[in-house]
Amino acid sequence: MTEHVEKKSEIRELAVKHLSPVMTRITDLVVTKAQGAKFWTEDGVEYIDFVSGVAVNAVGHAHPAVVKAIHEQSSNMIHLGLNYGYYESAVRLAQKLAAITPGNLDTVFFSNSGAEAIDGAIKLARAVTKRPNIIAFEGSFHGRTLGATSLTASSSKYRKYYEPLVGGVYHVPYPYQRQLPCQSEEDTTEYCLNRLTKLFELIVDPTQVAAIIIEPVMGEGGYVPAPAAFLQQLRKIADDNGILLIFDEVQTGFGRTGTMFASEHAGVVPDVLVLAKALASGLPLGAIVANRDLHDKWQTGTHGSTFGGNPVACAAALASIQVIEQEGLVERSERVGNQIVERLKLELGDLPSVAEIRGVGMMIGIEFQDEQVKPGTAIVSRIREEALKQQLLVTSCGVYGQTIRLMLPLNIDDNVLDQGLTILKQSIFNAIK
Ligand SMILES: Cc1ncc(COP(=O)(O)O)c(C=O)c1O
Repeated sequence: MTEHVEKKSEIRELAVKHLSPVMTRITDLVVTKAQGAKFWTEDGVEYIDFVSGVAVNAVGHAHPAVVKAIHEQSSNMIHLGLNYGYYESAVRLAQKLAAITPGNLDTVFFSNSGAEAIDGAIKLARAVTKRPNIIAFEGSFHGRTLGATSLTASSSKYRKYYEPLVGGVYHVPYPYQRQLPCQSEEDTTEYCLNRLTKLFELIVDPTQVAAIIIEPVMGEGGYVPAPAAFLQQLRKIADDNGILLIFDEVQTGFGRTGTMFASEHAGVVPDVLVLAKALASGLPLGAIVANRDLHDKWQTGTHGSTFGGNPVACAAALASIQVIEQEGLVERSERVGNQIVERLKLELGDLPSVAEIRGVGMMIGIEFQDEQVKPGTAIVSRIREEALKQQLLVTSCGVYGQTIRLMLPLNIDDNVLDQGLTILKQSIFNAIK
């Protein structure tokens, strides 16, 4: 591997001067090109990208089919405003989402981001049920708008300074066995369902709850899948009490977990499915997908967006979904994801610092612990630094930043994958020695 060359560029200086430091900066690389599972800095140094723009580039950076669709659409029409006329890319995308999402979810509202779509979903739930309260889960991340921040509970720093947030949000434990006093999946499911029942009995009557919102696989909070039985029980509780079940599949959508949507693993159809990230391969686009009847009850004019459903973003999304289908990437995610987990378990599974290796499709987490069996936050940050030195970009998740998460493009080339995993292993060994 060529050594990482440090060059203090004008762009970096300008960035430091003019970009708000509020956003956590993981690297200060100046990147000039990104293609497939790689990117290059201004110095011409090549990096392997195991982050994919935070699970956005499911079909890799700048897939030719997506680039072509963007070119074609942008030379025809860049923006109109979906309330000023219909255009094909948005309508065809809505039709496509209706076809590929589970169950009877057939109608779409487009927004510009995940958080914005989450906000819209809460508004929809309140408007339709005429109830005020929302139940979310500890450890969850739903985004950074004030509405989404109110649901987010993966770190108090995301909420610090912003209170009072949106009212009527109650958090209960997510079925994350390692962080609960539970010994098995069944135990964890039961524990969390009991806590929900207790919430209903002691604090908020279920008739006052508009929605339960959950990530079927917790993303930012640690790459933790919810047991199928837990999601199935949530479905039942929602049905029994006239509560809407919202699945936040912003990070899990579009093949990431080895099915087109993570909800399919449990065979549960939510009332509302929230999508973004990989939807448009990097162009800003979010979607709230629900059944027509529900959307019909959301009074016209009470929600909207200037840019939501932008023609170019929708064209990129259509092309991106087509690539996922044509290249068989959902099936590949499951197959290659299993192979990666197997390899990681073989190579790293016996290390005392490795607390758990878990994965659903190509949504894979390696959780670390220190010598006191406490979250391995410091180990993970050393791994990231070591990897970056060897030109591999990886990032972390988990409430304590104790988990390395792998968000590879679903179509990553076998050789690049092998190279990246070799560097990762080396970085882990360097970090723990
Ligand atoms: C599960 C989940 N929901 C919502 C969001 C917010 O999406 P965005 O950053 O596009 O607002 C994220 C972003 O990481 C996410 O992982």
